[in-house]
Amino acid sequence: MPSLRSFLLASFAVAGALSADCSGDVSIDSDGDVSKLDNCNSWKGNVAVGTGVVALSIASLQTLNGDLTITGATGLTSISAPMLRSISGTWTMQELTILSSVSLASLTSVGNINWVTLPALKALDFTSGVTNCDEVLITDTILTSLDGIQLQTATNFNINNNKYLKEVNVALGNVSNALNIEFNSKGVNVAFPDLVWAKNITIRDAGVVSFPKLESVNGTIAFINNTFTDAAFPELTEVGGSFAFNSNSQLSNVSAVNLETIGGTFQLANNTKLKDIDGFPALTTVDGSVDFSGSFTNATLPSLDDVRGGLNVQTTEEFDCTEFKGYKDSGVIKGNGYTCEGKLDEAKSSSGGSSTSGSGNSSDTTNSAARAGVSIVSLFAACAAMLVL
Ligand SMILES: *[C@@H]1O[C@H](CO)[C@@H](O)[C@H](O)[C@H]1NC(C)=O
Ligand SMILES: *[C@@H]1O[C@H](CO)[C@@H](O)[C@H](O)[C@H]1NC(C)=O
Ligand SMILES: *[C@@H]1O[C@H](CO)[C@@H](O)[C@H](O)[C@H]1NC(C)=O
Ligand SMILES: *[C@@H]1O[C@H](CO)[C@@H](O)[C@H](O)[C@H]1NC(C)=O
Ligand SMILES: *[C@@H]1O[C@H](CO)[C@@H](O)[C@H](O)[C@H]1NC(C)=O
Ligand SMILES: *[C@@H]1O[C@H](CO)[C@@H](O)[C@H](O)[C@H]1NC(C)=O
Ligand SMILES: *[C@@H]1O[C@H](CO)[C@@H](O)[C@H](O)[C@H]1NC(C)=O
Repeated sequence: MPSLRSFLLASFAVAGALSADCSGDVSIDSDGDVSKLDNCNSWKGNVAVGTGVVALSIASLQTLNGDLTITGATGLTSISAPMLRSISGTWTMQELTILSSVSLASLTSVGNINWVTLPALKALDFTSGVTNCDEVLITDTILTSLDGIQLQTATNFNINNNKYLKEVNVALGNVSNALNIEFNSKGVNVAFPDLVWAKNITIRDAGVVSFPKLESVNGTIAFINNTFTDAAFPELTEVGGSFAFNSNSQLSNVSAVNLETIGGTFQLANNTKLKDIDGFPALTTVDGSVDFSGSFTNATLPSLDDVRGGLNVQTTEEFDCTEFKGYKDSGVIKGNGYTCEGKLDEAKSSSGGSSTSGSGNSSDTTNSAARAGVSIVSLFAACAAMLVL
């Protein structure tokens, strides 16, 4: 692939001989620095690329046992390392304003990916596909897809503020800490076809979501401000923390037919097109509270047996509270706070803030002080703040 060897290296013959010393931290500022790496199959040490480099081409290095850090090289246009198979440490690329080509055809393994503010990076050229990586943060790029990222497990997988990203489809089997897909292009198609469990999941701005194999979420699962019409979690049985669907303007059907327990609050709020809440036939236990607000006409939790917190059901439509009143009277709902009301002008969630305004008659809301469970709203505000760069 002669085209990948940029002019930078053209004058340096790649020495076949493997020199003795293939270790140490290196700062790449010149062609000579690159040839030092290229005299080795494997380099042990951290590599930092200087801000003045305009094209980085590492022709023959195969493994880097260390970090690769490229920060603030505002003139850098391309990176190519056709033989590089693994980077054991963190691969940082930050504020590379005109970087448009990243070609690592052999790369399969990276310790951590930390890519922030790469406004010219449209596509990756990872022919082999990266299958191993612990922490992935990709933010503020113009990537349109994540083709080439084929991870099976990750600790954190955080893809945010990539305004051209149309699809996230990754074969992750589990995410041991947080999975966040947020503030990318509106309507991004989000699919995790093999995901079985994750600690926390937060999805925003998705037009389609698919989690066909998801069985358990140890912490919180939240879907906010998405535009999908349907969301189904056919295999989900357990959520350790809260389960929340808020402000999904087109959502008309949400179901988790095998979901039995929710360890935190079960919150549905501001999903104005959701009329029937009937997709949770197996739900028996909610350790937090049940908090439904919106303009639904029907809601049922037929297997409900134990709610440690309170219950808040508020809708702008006419609503029959018989089922929920029965749960209050029979002691299924154990916490403080019970509200069930229909035909409200404004349906409010118990964590505060108005939910959905309707045209119904006003009715008195004397017992509307349902116990506020985990404040989902503030949890998200904190996450969002962390993501602002
Ligand atoms: C995580 O997912 C990978 C890929 O599907 C699988 O091989 C591994 O056994 C899973 N680990 C755990 C702890 O579930
Ligand atoms: C999350 O739950 C899965 C399935 O129950 C379990 O295998 C995994 O160890 C848990 N992970 C954490 C981080 O608690
Ligand atoms: C995961 O969820 C738990 C509770 O559900 C929360 O306390 C924790 O902060 C969350 N962690 C992340 C990384 O979002
Ligand atoms: C939803 O997205 C809109 C912009 O499209 C934003 O103004 C609004 O604050 C978001 N709402 C939430 C709850 O994140
Ligand atoms: C809602 O989705 C579930 C699961 O995909 C499906 O079985 C059910 O028929 C849907 N309900 C409606 C009213 O479309
Ligand atoms: C939905 O609610 C309306 C009005 O309260 C009621 O007439 C209807 O029977 C309910 N439908 C179901 C499927 O429960
Ligand atoms: C619902 O939307 C209103 C108005 O946009 C907002 O003030 C409120 O916080 C939202 N509620 C939840 C639980 O997201």
